[in-house]
This record gives sequence, structure tokens and C-alpha cells, in this order.
Amino acid sequence: MIGRLNHVAIVVPSLEEAANLYAGTLGATVSEPVSMPEHGVTTVFVTLPNSKIELLHPLGDDSPIQSFLSRHPSGGMHHLCYEVEDIYGARDQLLEHGLTVLGDGEPRVGAHDKLVLFLHPRDMFGTLVELEQA
Ligand code: CO
Repeated sequence: MIGRLNHVAIVVPSLEEAANLYAGTLGATVSEPVSMPEHGVTTVFVTLPNSKIELLHPLGDDSPIQSFLSRHPSGGMHHLCYEVEDIYGARDQLLEHGLTVLGDGEPRVGAHDKLVLFLHPRDMFGTLVELEQA
């Protein structure tokens, strides 16, 4: 079921500083910031040869990552994203095995106009895991 590692997401206190580090110091290709009000985040994507890094910063007053940034003021790793071929099939299989899908359990449109869902960290050894329709 599980496919490629699509991205690793890092919450950062400054998207500009983080983008400059990845683009300037590390020589990576970075996107322009993309605001996603419906998710409460602004993102910058760093393209690596074999995967991506998603730099995240809170957007709006009730951003779901604001508390994370408050607890980790210098930033921190937030989630891993794995690709799956069939997100509904994957969801049902994981539910059958007793895992918890966050929210109402329905996949929703994520950062790349693909369907995504999140698995509870307690089921994934303390790691928040996003699944994305490949
Ligand atoms: Co993500």
C-alpha cells in the first residue's frame, strides 16, 4: 500500500529565512510561498532529487500549527507524507487495523490538489503521518 516518500514537513518561524537557507546556503530549488487559508498554513516547497521538503508557517489566528510553533519556537519536524495509489482503499485498510484517521476521516484536498488524510501520531510511533493520493 505505502508508496514513495512524498515530503517531510518542517514548521519554521520564518518562511523567508528557511527558504533562503535551502535556496542560498544549500543550493536547492524552492517554490514561492503558497497560502492555503483553508488549511491555516503558508507553504514553501523545496524540491530534492528524490523527495521534497514542505516548509510550513501558520496562517491566520486559528492555524492548526500555531501551537506546534509555540512549543517549538525555533521550528521542528511536523509530519511525513507517504504516497498511496488509492487513498480510500488505504484509509479503509488502516481503519480495519484499528488506526485513527484524524478529523472526520474523509480525505480532503491538500497542498498539490491531491487528496490527503492524516493518521494519529500515537498509532505511528509518535510521528504525524500524511497520506497523499499518488
Ligand atoms: Co504535508
